[in-house]
Amino acid sequence: MDKAVVDPAMRAKFGKVAVLLGGTSAERDVSLMSGGAVLEALRAAGVDAHGFDPAEFDLHILKEQGYDRAFIALHGRGGEDGTVQGMLELLKIPYTGSGVMASALAMDKWRTKMVWAACGLPTPRYAILNADTDWDAVVADLGLPIFVKPVHEGSSMGATKVTEPAQLKAAWELAARFDDLVIAEEFISGAELTAPFLHDRALPLIRIEAPGGNYDYQNKYFTDDTRYLCPCGLPAAQEQALQALIMQSARVLGCRGWGRADLILTEDGRPYLLEMNTSPGMTGHSLVPMAARVAGMDFTQLCLAILEDARLG
Ligand SMILES: Nc1ncnc2c1ncn2[C@@H]1O[C@H](COP(=O)(O)OP(=O)(O)O)[C@@H](O)[C@H]1O
Ligand SMILES: [Mg+2]
Repeated sequence: MDKAVVDPAMRAKFGKVAVLLGGTSAERDVSLMSGGAVLEALRAAGVDAHGFDPAEFDLHILKEQGYDRAFIALHGRGGEDGTVQGMLELLKIPYTGSGVMASALAMDKWRTKMVWAACGLPTPRYAILNADTDWDAVVADLGLPIFVKPVHEGSSMGATKVTEPAQLKAAWELAARFDDLVIAEEFISGAELTAPFLHDRALPLIRIEAPGGNYDYQNKYFTDDTRYLCPCGLPAAQEQALQALIMQSARVLGCRGWGRADLILTEDGRPYLLEMNTSPGMTGHSLVPMAARVAGMDFTQLCLAILEDARLG
């Protein structure tokens, strides 16, 4: 491995740290990049950190191998969804980010929306699709365009913007290949924003400008044409109001440590919450690190701040 030297002060503070990366979800490749970046930063800072891929080794050996803490850099199912968090609870190894309940809830876009709606927080109107759906009734109810996506997937996988009634069923079929729960939402046009938070503080919002307004898998990870604006350019009072909304959206789901909510802001200033990410991307050019940088925190400081907050329960 690299020649990073363990700093005794870091060792005393954090013990032996496992950076959980990879895993078995559809977002495995992104997680390998996130975890790799976190691992490199922590080791360079003198932390006794080691990569651990739950797809290769069973998590229970973490205890035998003397790990004291875990930094969860897994994305998607089997990492971001409460299962790994539950395992770490049983092993009594403090871990970063949200606990079991909030992780599981936030992984489910449908139930997340139900909680937000019940609390009066704004989120697009929706319908759950299945083989028995009355397609015309959904079109009549939500209006076109409609955005169809799998309930438990990330990275825009299996998502379609439906502009013609006849496309709705095919969009459901595509999303259903990724998930047995598929949601259709009214399509919200406006500015795409993402809102990271760290501990109890909202970080600066990021405005995303994807080619053609299409923030899909390709434009998330593989093109250089997507623009990320941070600061986002909104008037300070409006940004603060959105940050307060984000912290409230995180609180009602029970999130902690860190995370990132995605939202759309219409031209006339109405925000719509799309989803909460409890284990967001952490590559050098991911969004949370970008917002942290604008708040005066470099990537290493961010990793250490997240790690400091690792806990059980
Ligand atoms: N109701 C919607 N209206 C318009 N665009 C949407 C809607 N839902 C999702 N999108 C677009 O799809 C992207 C991915 O959706 P999101 O709910 O954030 O899921 P994920 O990021 O987990 O794939 C969003 O960033 C946004 O560009
Ligand atoms: Mg998203």
